[in-house]
Amino acid sequence: MVAVVITGRGGAGKTTMTANLGAYFAKSGYRSLVIDGDLYLPKLAFHFGIYTPQYNIHTLLKNPDMRVVQAVYHDPRTGVDVLPGSSKLSDVINLDQRRLRDIVREIQTRYNITIIDSPVGIPFDTISTFRLAQYQLIIVEIERCPIHSVHRMIENEVIKLKSIGDAYGLKVGVILNKVRESSENVRDIVDFLEYSIEVPVVGVVPFDRRVPEATNYGRPVIDYAPRTKASKAISEAGGILDEWVFGKKERKGPLARLYEALLSLLHRTSVPSLKKL
Ligand SMILES: Nc1ncnc2c1ncn2[C@@H]1O[C@H](COP(=O)(O)OP(=O)(O)O)[C@@H](O)[C@H]1O
Ligand SMILES: [Mg+2]
Repeated sequence: MVAVVITGRGGAGKTTMTANLGAYFAKSGYRSLVIDGDLYLPKLAFHFGIYTPQYNIHTLLKNPDMRVVQAVYHDPRTGVDVLPGSSKLSDVINLDQRRLRDIVREIQTRYNITIIDSPVGIPFDTISTFRLAQYQLIIVEIERCPIHSVHRMIENEVIKLKSIGDAYGLKVGVILNKVRESSENVRDIVDFLEYSIEVPVVGVVPFDRRVPEATNYGRPVIDYAPRTKASKAISEAGGILDEWVFGKKERKGPLARLYEALLSLLHRTSVPSLKKL
């Protein structure tokens, strides 16, 4: 019963991340729902090979008596449930997007996690759902440009979007996407976000041509090509979110576990001396 709203600039990868994180949580055994909140340009369902859904978020918005489950589709490959948007322009006209909140409120009780995709920039279509959510993820596309302009771009974009999440009391995180920068520059950007803007970075996803390829096949990349660079990075981000949301520790490799075991041993032996203080 946790809701995450995804925001960010156009083309940053919001829809891609919604589909893939939804798939990550379903794969991890959670009941996972993704909702297309980009009411004017819905594309989320394409990531699951759903192109012309008869019932969808728009039919729900226009027919308040319809049950929300009627417009939910199960993707058997990933285990994700999808509440798609309509691909027909006529459905998009004269919408009352405030009802979106009632729809999300009704359906999310059936799921462990609900992820809501948003339109470009300030998320006017999905703002009503911020009241139901607990988390906001800002997807930031890192373009190849001089590092000082990256800072300015991030400042301009992330601070505005974060202030919306802050106003609703959401825990906010950032995912850097389409990253092609050197690891040194990425480190600099992550530090800037975490120390200057004070927003944690949940994931760093590289630019990977297999991402659009997967979408062309109607599948999230973590399902289509789980070993590709982007899929591994998305799964890592999913692991961190899993820990945020459900308090589950990320699965660690043997070296990290050994290091933790040594640390806890040291900690245990130091307890008596601490007690003396
Ligand atoms: N990590 C990535 N590497 C390469 N291409 C990506 C990556 N993430 C997203 N894309 C591509 O970028 C385009 C925009 O992504 P999309 O998720 O639709 O963005 P948004 O929803 O923010 O507008 C799509 O063609 C998508 O396949
Ligand atoms: Mg989108």
